[in-house]
Amino acid sequence: MTRHKVGYFVGSLAKDSINRKLAQALVRLAPPELELEEIPFKDLPLYSYDYDADYPPVARSLKEAIASKDAILFVTPEYNRSIPGGLKNAIDWASRPWGQNSFARKPSAVIGASIGSIGTAVAQQSLRSVLSFCNSPQMNAPEAYIHFTPGLVTETGEVTEPSTEEFLRNYMMEFKIFIARVLQVLPREA
Ligand code: FNR
Repeated sequence: MTRHKVGYFVGSLAKDSINRKLAQALVRLAPPELELEEIPFKDLPLYSYDYDADYPPVARSLKEAIASKDAILFVTPEYNRSIPGGLKNAIDWASRPWGQNSFARKPSAVIGASIGSIGTAVAQQSLRSVLSFCNSPQMNAPEAYIHFTPGLVTETGEVTEPSTEEFLRNYMMEFKIFIARVLQVLPREA
């Protein structure tokens, strides 16, 4: 069994984040070949290219965390029809310094939960555009726009709606297949 290391970003910094609950559910439902670990970003200062000559330790850790993974999963809310500023800040840090873009050739997938009925669809399109520029091969399908209703996922990440649980399990299975396919043609650099 080939195992793949997946780093995941939770786009929300809120302590009761529904996207954190969704991420916990995805960790539970992932096939055993995927080893998931969160990549934190809340302590990053706001990015400026003034830092490029000498990245602070917290930003170096971010880039090292991404480098150590086979693939990246983004679990994000939609804020004002885009992704939260904190997540965009983390992506900007990871994409630089110029020529050292951490997302280049790194497979990724996006998913998100919203209390609104379109389930982060607009934010995901915005994120996909960012990831395209960052040269990350993205899983195109299945798309996953999760309309989060109270109690859909418990505090410990159990999904209470069987059809949603099945959908999320299949989403992670497809991500596993996608990662293996991308790594076959774009093996990770040692
Ligand atoms: C929101 N929310 C929201 N929902 C949505 O579907 N589309 C949107 O554009 C927005 N915009 C937005 C902006 C800001 C600043 C906040 C705080 C919220 C509602 C959002 O879906 C809801 O707060 C979720 O709980 C956010 O996910 P987390 O942070 O709980 O994971």
